[in-house]
Amino acid sequence: MITEPDKENEEETISGENNPVPALLMCPPRFYDVSYVINPWMRGNLGKASLSLAMQQWQKLCRVLSGMAHVLLVEPVAGSPDMVFTANAGLAHAGIVVISSFYYPERQNEETHFRRWFTDAGYRVADLPREIPFEGEGDALFSSNGLRLWVGYGYRTRESSHAILRDLWAIEVAGLHLVDPRFYHLDTCFAPLKDGSLLYFPPAFDKTSVARIEAYYPPAQRIVISEEDAMSFACNAVNIGKTIVLNRISSELECKLKVRGFQVIQVELSEFLKAGGAAKCLVMQLTPE
Ligand code: ARG
Repeated sequence: MITEPDKENEEETISGENNPVPALLMCPPRFYDVSYVINPWMRGNLGKASLSLAMQQWQKLCRVLSGMAHVLLVEPVAGSPDMVFTANAGLAHAGIVVISSFYYPERQNEETHFRRWFTDAGYRVADLPREIPFEGEGDALFSSNGLRLWVGYGYRTRESSHAILRDLWAIEVAGLHLVDPRFYHLDTCFAPLKDGSLLYFPPAFDKTSVARIEAYYPPAQRIVISEEDAMSFACNAVNIGKTIVLNRISSELECKLKVRGFQVIQVELSEFLKAGGAAKCLVMQLTPE
C-alpha cells in the first residue's frame, strides 16, 4: 500500500527522469524496535529504543525533507522492525530497481514488501539470487556526477554483486572494502556531496580502497571526518541541492560544510542510532536530481 504525506505534490510522477523535485521513499517507524543484533550498535540496545521518541524524531526528519522533496511512504509491517531503514530497500536508477538481497535472515522478510511497493509504483524490478547479498543504497552510492557507482562490501553486500549492477545499468562500478564493523554499510562512512566533494571516514576502509577514493577525489574535495563525528553518523547525510540533513554533528564539521556553501540541518535521531542507522538510512532516493 502506498500513502503520501504531501498531497500538494500528488500530480508529480515518481520515477520520471525529468522530475525536478527529488522523490524519496520513507517508512513510518510504527513497528520499529531493536529486537535482534546484526551490527555492533544494536548490542546492548535490545528493547531500548523509545517508540514514541523514535516517531517524533522520524516525523521531524520527514517534515524537514518534505519541504525539499516529494516524500513517498511505504507501509511498515509488524515483525520487520528495520523496515524503517528504506535505504536498504534496494537501489533505484533509470526506472529500474534492484531489490536488496539481505545478508541476515532477520531482514529478508522486508524484500517482499519493498518489491511490492516498487512493482505498484511502475518500476522494472530486478532481483539478485539469495547467495549474492546486496543491501541497496545502504551500500551503493553514486558519485555526484552520476557516472560512477561506489559499492561497499565486506559485511553485508558481496563483491560478486558488483558485476551484476555494472551490467544491468552499463555503469562504472568501483568497490570499496569496509573493514570496521561499526561502519558496516557504505552510507555510514562515505557520502558523495552534490558539490563534487566527499564526506568520509578513512579508517572504515582498507588501504586499497582509501587509495581508490583518493585517486578519484582530489585533496580539496575530500572532507575527512573525526571518529567522534563518524560515531554520530555524520556521513549518514541526506544532501538535496545545497542542503544537508543529518544527525547532530560537531560545530567544527558544521562550519566546514557551511564554508562550502551548504545549509546544515541537524535532526536528533538518537533512537535510530540504537539500531545502527541515522538520516540517510531512513531515506531512499527515487530520482536523480
Ligand atoms: N539495523 C539495521 C541493520 O543492521 C540498520 C540499517 C541501517 N541502514 C543503513 N543504510 N546503513 O541492517
